[in-house]
Amino acid sequence: MSINILEMKNITKTFPGGVIANKNINLKLRKGEVHTLLGENGAGKSTIMNILSGLYSPDSGNILINEKPVSLNSPKDAIKYGIGMVYQHFQLIPELSVVENVILGIKQRREPFLDIKGSADRILEYSNKYNMGIDPCAMVWQLSVGQQQWVEIIKALYRGARILVLDEPTAVLIPQEIDQLFNMIRQFTAADFSVIFISHKINEVKEISDRITILRKGQKVNTVETSEVSKPELAEMMVGREVLFKAYKKKAVPGVPALVLDKIEADNSKGLQALKIVSLAVKKGEILGIAGVDGNGQSELVEVIMGLRKSTSGSVKVMDKDVTNAHPREILDCSVGHIPEDRRVSGLMLEMNLRENLILHDYHTVPHSKFLLNWKFIKEHAEKLIEDYDIRTPNSDVLAGKLSGGNQQKLILARELHGNPDILVAMHATRGLDVGAIEYVHKNIIAQRDAGAAILYVSTEIDELLNISDRIAVIHSGEIMGIVNPDNVTIKELGLMMAGSKKDTLL
Ligand SMILES: Nc1ncnc2c1ncn2[C@@H]1O[C@H](COP(=O)(O)OP(=O)(O)OP(=O)(O)O)[C@@H](O)[C@H]1O
Ligand SMILES: [Mg+2]
Repeated sequence: MSINILEMKNITKTFPGGVIANKNINLKLRKGEVHTLLGENGAGKSTIMNILSGLYSPDSGNILINEKPVSLNSPKDAIKYGIGMVYQHFQLIPELSVVENVILGIKQRREPFLDIKGSADRILEYSNKYNMGIDPCAMVWQLSVGQQQWVEIIKALYRGARILVLDEPTAVLIPQEIDQLFNMIRQFTAADFSVIFISHKINEVKEISDRITILRKGQKVNTVETSEVSKPELAEMMVGREVLFKAYKKKAVPGVPALVLDKIEADNSKGLQALKIVSLAVKKGEILGIAGVDGNGQSELVEVIMGLRKSTSGSVKVMDKDVTNAHPREILDCSVGHIPEDRRVSGLMLEMNLRENLILHDYHTVPHSKFLLNWKFIKEHAEKLIEDYDIRTPNSDVLAGKLSGGNQQKLILARELHGNPDILVAMHATRGLDVGAIEYVHKNIIAQRDAGAAILYVSTEIDELLNISDRIAVIHSGEIMGIVNPDNVTIKELGLMMAGSKKDTLL
């Protein structure tokens, strides 16, 4: 009989506005186990972990560590009990180095002197032990997202974490990085430490967890042994209905080319060439998927199309109109919708409410405004979109930053799709979303296609691209390696192209 290192008993948490984020939740964590919290967007996963990390206090309920009741009133208390939290949205300071970030807030032995050397050595030990490849002296802003996550994990280990809480750690990782993270988790739990793992991705949940607790709408549905449950059963427990893993779509009926890139070249933010002679044409009524490992020019490609980055040569045409290096406003006004790469950075104004976020494109047009903003219309418009797009929120006064990830994405979809754009440029549109929400996004995007939109769909998930695209272009190092038909390409061929083989070399 293994010991429960942690027990959360009857935890309830209500937010202002009446959202019951957690209702009477019970959770037991064994020593040495990987315990997953699985649940839809907004199910209450981050909330209960924020309670565990001392960030929020519960309205009621108890927490026991090693069978003794504790009160966790601040993240410091949580650390004292060995709870190390890696938040869904990282808390690092980009302008500081790795060491500085790791030791920030820890009392130094010989204050006011910082023991940078000693700390760097310890960081290197963790990095080597878990194969993280982190340079303690690197500046955090220079690190990839995956590396930044390692720094967050090191921060927790450095503070003596015996329970590591990882809130959607794989949402930002590529397949190889996920393998590395899983190796780290296995090593960590083999030493009798425990991990609480949060993810929506049922495949990886099956792979890494010992047990799974499913939450739905703030309540616990069940705790199950991973080996005793199938993937469809998990999906159904999570969403409350059967889930289609395959998006249903009719054969595309492509029309005229609507978005045409001709020999586009562009530099990245470091001044290095990011796009090399990229030529693509997306037709009305089709979804052109763009596959590639993150960082191979996808961001720059989308930015060039949307007028957010200057191209150094080549042209972009939208419905025959030349919009090369045009102002973003002009491009949006050509009936182009945009689902940006990072919903929190460029998709939404987190400090504004839902109403305001929903009019970011249209606020200057009738009926949204005529000299002054027409708040009555804007409110009604928002309420209709909240209803139509099933955005889970008490009302439209809520700040966008307070919505769960999936609901934030629905908010963007509502804004970008409700006017039925001719062209939709979507990047990582389902990143961090649960199976139900992914199904929802796919359905909406396919409906736009069927209504005649030309859709450019950038993703790093091969399964998703095979599922949703009518054609797939593979990008590597800023170059198109070829365009394939999802019905007769293998995952291996796609993988090879993503690693830099040209399509004709595969034939
Ligand atoms: N600080 C807050 N203020 C008000 N409401 C909040 C706050 N944090 C979360 N909520 C609400 O509580 C509910 C649970 O949110 P939570 O972030 O815990 O969900 P989640 O399961 O982590 O979702 P996701 O998978 O999208 O990250 C949601 O309805 C959310 O809008
Ligand atoms: Mg969350």
